[in-house]
Amino acid sequence: MNANPNIIIEPCWNDYMNWLSFANAGMLSSRINVDCMNYAIQHLPSQTPIIEIGSFCGLSTNLISYLKEKHGVKNPLVTCDKWIFEGSETTISLGDSKTITHKEYREFIKESYIRNINMFSRYDLPYTIEVFSDEFFNLWKNNTQSQDILGREIQLGGKISFCYIDGNHSYKCAKRDFENCDHYLEKGGFILFDDSADDSNWGVNLLVKEIVNEGKYILLDNTLNYFFQKKGGKNEPAILSFQKTKENQKKEKIRHDICLHYYQLGSLHQKNNQLNEAKKYFSLAFKHSPAPNIEAGYFFHLAEIALAEKKTAKAKKHLKKCLSLIPDHQKAKEHLNQLNQI
Ligand SMILES: C[S@@+](CC[C@H](N)C(=O)[O-])C[C@H]1O[C@@H](n2cnc3c(N)ncnc32)[C@H](O)[C@@H]1O
Repeated sequence: MNANPNIIIEPCWNDYMNWLSFANAGMLSSRINVDCMNYAIQHLPSQTPIIEIGSFCGLSTNLISYLKEKHGVKNPLVTCDKWIFEGSETTISLGDSKTITHKEYREFIKESYIRNINMFSRYDLPYTIEVFSDEFFNLWKNNTQSQDILGREIQLGGKISFCYIDGNHSYKCAKRDFENCDHYLEKGGFILFDDSADDSNWGVNLLVKEIVNEGKYILLDNTLNYFFQKKGGKNEPAILSFQKTKENQKKEKIRHDICLHYYQLGSLHQKNNQLNEAKKYFSLAFKHSPAPNIEAGYFFHLAEIALAEKKTAKAKKHLKKCLSLIPDHQKAKEHLNQLNQI
């Protein structure tokens, strides 16, 4: 399944992210996830919340906060996690540890999460609701006034702009998360599924293939994990690239008009024998020109001005430069022949 050819997901991993990931435990399956988050955060369709399902120790949460700060994005980040891990309910002890229990581990992870967000997202703290995603979306549906793990009040509900799904990766749970997200996601909004790559053993990989086939979403990237955009937004890659072309054409037209204006002023001054002024405007025209071939004309005019100033050597130099760019420039050839005969 090929991702959309109109976009390039630029790599964005940097030094800050290195330091963060050294200090903040996490389960980021690939740095490409962060590239996708970076793209989503730069192209959000609106100011509605960003949702993260499954925060663990806060690595992805803190990365999202950092990207928000980097791009000046104010959309609130709302996350949910109950810190009850898949497979952890089957035994009391952590693995074969004789001393550490799952309960202690869970408490430790939650405390780590709080410590990590208080350090790395302290100027833009996420709201984290301590529930499973099903319950979270139930609260969301009912626009519930809730309390986050830091004791702050938040009114849940409404549209969302981007969802990072990294909770329970089984087909059934990931599908419910997707359907809930899809319900609230704006047109042009984004969904990134962790652990959904084609070589993943998780059920979420089946789900992402269904989403591709359904056709309601644009597949932006699946270099590894699947990253989607809901169709119908004004921020779709094809529309953005069309707008960019239009903008470039407009800029080029403005540059062309300015260049023409300077060129005309240069010619006018040359005609009136105001040679220094003429030189100034020709060089401005040259500087603003969007077209490469104006360079030859520029040297031709400089040569004519040098001739008027009776600076033969300079005139020859400019004519040669002009002919090196346009070898069959007739007038330049004629001038140079005449000068060579002197
Ligand atoms: C893979 S970890 C998340 C890793 C984290 N995003 C990071 O970058 O380090 C999965 C997390 O999802 C949580 N989780 C599992 N099932 C969930 C569910 N149904 N709703 C919300 N969170 C869930 C787990 O408690 C765990 O912390």
